[in-house]
Amino acid sequence: MTAPIRIAPSILSADFAKLGEEVRAIDAAGADWIHVDVMDGHFVPNITIGPAVVKALRPHSAKPFDVHLMISPVDAYLEAFAEAGADIITVHPEAGPHTHRTVQRIKALGKKAGISLNPATPAKMLDYLLEEIDLVLVMSVNPGFGGQSFISSQLRKIEAIRKSIDKLGKPIDLEVDGGIDVGTIRSARDAGADVFVAGTATFRGGPSAYAANIAALKAA
Ligand code: DX5
Ligand code: ZN
Repeated sequence: MTAPIRIAPSILSADFAKLGEEVRAIDAAGADWIHVDVMDGHFVPNITIGPAVVKALRPHSAKPFDVHLMISPVDAYLEAFAEAGADIITVHPEAGPHTHRTVQRIKALGKKAGISLNPATPAKMLDYLLEEIDLVLVMSVNPGFGGQSFISSQLRKIEAIRKSIDKLGKPIDLEVDGGIDVGTIRSARDAGADVFVAGTATFRGGPSAYAANIAALKAA
C-alpha cells in the first residue's frame, strides 16, 4: 500500500547564501523531509555541497535529512555524511562496483539506505537489493540540475517498483525526484510514489510562498 504523501523540498533551489534560514523556512512551511543534493562534478555535471554543510544545517531542523549522494566513488564519504547528521543516505548503483556492500555500510552506520535509479537505469537493478533497503528514489530527470522537465517514462518504472515493494510487504519508501510540480505530482502519486522531491516548485516565489507551494503540491 502507498503510504501518506510526504514532500521533500530539495535545497538545491534554495538561496545558498542563506541556507540555514531557508531550511528553517521550509521546515516551518510544512516540509516533511529536507532533501539534500550532493554533487561532485564527476558523477554528475554539477558541484554542490559536502558533509560540512550538512553538519552546519543539522541544527536548523529536526525533520529527516534525506541525503541524495550523486558522487562517485561514494563509499569513502558515507561515514562523513552519517556523522554530519543524515537520516537517509541514498546512492546510485553506478557510483561504485559493490552496491550491496555500500548498502550494508549505510545500515551499519545506523542510517536508512536508499537506492536511486537514473532515468535509463531499469527497475531490475533492485532485484537483489530491495529487501536490504529502506527507500527507492526514482529519478524523473537526469541528475545534476534543478528545474528540468519530468520524464514521463519513469511512471512505468514507479508502477513496477510499487508492485515489487507491495509483494515484498516491507515498508520501503518510494520517492520520485525531478520535475515534480502541481502538474506532474498526481501522475507520480497514481503510479505509486509516496515521497516527492520538489526543488523549483517549493522555492519559487521566496519564503512567503513556501507554505502555499507545499500545500498546493499536497492538494494536487
Ligand atoms: C537533480 C536533483 C533534484 C533536483 C530537483 O539532480 O536530484 O533533487 O534538485 O529539482 P526540481 O524539483 O527543480 O526538478
Ligand atoms: Zn535529489
